[in-house]
Amino acid sequence: TAAQLAPTPPMGWNSWNHFAGKVDEADVRAAAKAMVDSGMAAAGYKYIVIDDTWQGKRDAQGFIHPNSKFPDMPGLIQYVHSLGLKFGIYSSPGPQTCAGYEGSYGHVQQDAETYARWGVDYLKYDLCSYLGIMHKEAANNPAKALAMQQAAYLKMYKALAAAGRPIVFSLCQYGIGDVWKWGPSVGGNLWRTTGDIQDNYARMATIGFGQAGLAKYAGPGHWNDPDMLEVGNGGMTNEEYRTHMSLWALLAAPLIAGNDLSHMSPATLAILTNREVIAVDQDRLGREGDRVSKNGALEIWAKPLTGGAKAVGLFNRDTQPHSMTLQLSVVNFPPHAHLRDLWRHKTVHAHHGAYTVTVPAHGVVLLKLTR
Ligand code: GLA
Repeated sequence: TAAQLAPTPPMGWNSWNHFAGKVDEADVRAAAKAMVDSGMAAAGYKYIVIDDTWQGKRDAQGFIHPNSKFPDMPGLIQYVHSLGLKFGIYSSPGPQTCAGYEGSYGHVQQDAETYARWGVDYLKYDLCSYLGIMHKEAANNPAKALAMQQAAYLKMYKALAAAGRPIVFSLCQYGIGDVWKWGPSVGGNLWRTTGDIQDNYARMATIGFGQAGLAKYAGPGHWNDPDMLEVGNGGMTNEEYRTHMSLWALLAAPLIAGNDLSHMSPATLAILTNREVIAVDQDRLGREGDRVSKNGALEIWAKPLTGGAKAVGLFNRDTQPHSMTLQLSVVNFPPHAHLRDLWRHKTVHAHHGAYTVTVPAHGVVLLKLTR
């Protein structure tokens, strides 16, 4: 069942954000090895996902083959499995993927069988050129277009089920038609809620803080996906990357690293493997957090955790530091609650039921509150 396949938000690595169309077999092998050697696997990262541009041509029977960048897909997948990791792949319901490679259109069952035969554990299914098919067959009829899209996702879901291998199903259609309302009904274990992330604070913040109100649609087996992590890709400061990681953890977002795992700074690794922050994301209760308050550039977000605990993020979206105060009563905690700072790894103290702290520009103070 969905809840067994993805009881907590999937964690892993995907090739797109760093390698994009240049990714090849050697890059993926190196990423898998680095995931283990760096300690990321031990911290919970599990899926190695090849995004777009692996596809080659179909043979006379219609079965898909990888292109020359991936000379031995089954061997690569075996290698990933031999490291104790799981493997993910990418396709589209349309004739072409977003990067113009071969999609699954007209070959859905065959592709599902190929993935199962290869040992694939995760499929990211990206709408891409199926939008064109929808437009052609349902122009000026949004209801019909949406029904076509849902049918296309359901078709692949059923094909995967028929192929007989448990495969996490990741919907990528950028949030069209409030996908969070119907993602589970087409078999989605996660669904992108937005367009693509970019490696800059403005885009990351627009997406992350824009998730307010979606919490009720997430839960074990079915997660909102605000897109993959950019941590370590170089376009943000470490302070901003801590904000990115904290926000994604509060959102119970899939934690799919998108950097070059074989060449990571100690700071990048520390952000990606902060176990106290990962524990917020992976909490077994499976509840997504939401915004509690917003005062100009200052926002407080909270996520319920098991045992009546709560994670609370104090975010400063301004370009200068600000003092922020958390009234414990605002998140329904008594004045004598225990507070732990999850980035500084230490206990901090409230006074008269309030905790005041300076939050750096574009930064965060992430707390765990227990009773
Ligand atoms: C779309 C997706 C991205 C990535 C690219 C690949 O833009 O949203 O995550 O998969 O396609 O072409």
